[in-house]
Amino acid sequence: MYLGLDNGVALVTAASRGIGRATAERLATEGMTVIALSRSGGEPEKFDDGQIVPWQADLSESGATAGLVEEIVEQYGSLDVVVLNTPGPKITPVLDSTWADWEAAHDTLLRPVVQLALDAGRQMREQKSGAIVLISSTWVRQPAPGGVLSASYRSAASAFMKSLATELAPFGVRVNQVMPGATGTDRMKNIVESKSAGNGTTVDQEIEKIVKDIPLGRWAEAAEIADTIAFVVSPRASFMTGNAVAVDGGAVRAAH
Ligand SMILES: NC(=O)c1ccc[n+]([C@@H]2O[C@H](COP(=O)([O-])OP(=O)(O)OC[C@H]3O[C@@H](n4cnc5c(N)ncnc54)[C@H](OP(=O)(O)O)[C@@H]3O)[C@@H](O)[C@H]2O)c1
Repeated sequence: MYLGLDNGVALVTAASRGIGRATAERLATEGMTVIALSRSGGEPEKFDDGQIVPWQADLSESGATAGLVEEIVEQYGSLDVVVLNTPGPKITPVLDSTWADWEAAHDTLLRPVVQLALDAGRQMREQKSGAIVLISSTWVRQPAPGGVLSASYRSAASAFMKSLATELAPFGVRVNQVMPGATGTDRMKNIVESKSAGNGTTVDQEIEKIVKDIPLGRWAEAAEIADTIAFVVSPRASFMTGNAVAVDGGAVRAAH
């Protein structure tokens, strides 16, 4: 399907690996110039008509993205797509969590999302076009053991995005969320390895425990999440805003 994203400019955060990287690659393959923010940065890469331009910043530092939207617009002429991806928080039982855990999760899951969405939203309101998508988690809809930090702050981010969607709709700017389920990235591999070490099981047994609750019988590849994100931010999804789309192989059992 032709997505109509070519020649556009996108910002993707937490984009050197996993879902963020797959999304940056997908958008660059569609012909976009993609500013890919991460701590590790990297070298610029060409993708047919598109490109990935690395941007080094640490999202956990307050104000790390100050001036970024203005700089992108100054250099590339517009900002058409923003994909708000974040590093995942610590996995912890509720009653084992410390206040430092809550502050660290706030500083990566909520603060940078709000700071960047405000800057991007103001820019897109002025240019009267654009699409913002938050990469969230199905744990917002169905909290899982150990996922309290993720579910709590992402629920706040989710309410923020819904409010922003309503406010930006009259300006032709769309705001949505994509909620991945289990996806085979470094983060997932680390989670499975630490569960296997803690439970005295094999990694395959831990993977089996996760996959048995997924009706499609496997976890996602990051590229499958990226495909949905690319569709949601593209003109092909032009009547879709204020929505939260689960990409989880059927794992969430709620009907809505
Ligand atoms: N994988 C899953 O099953 C799954 C399911 C649902 C939701 N999610 C959520 O989706 C998001 C992405 O997950 P993932 O599995 O793709 O993670 P991942 O493979 O661990 O990748 C994390 C990315 O975040 C970047 N990053 C980490 N700390 C950063 C910081 N302080 N500032 C800027 N960038 C930073 C990393 O790059 P650098 O290290 O180079 O900075 C990397 O590019 C997470 O929020 C995760 O919780 C994942």
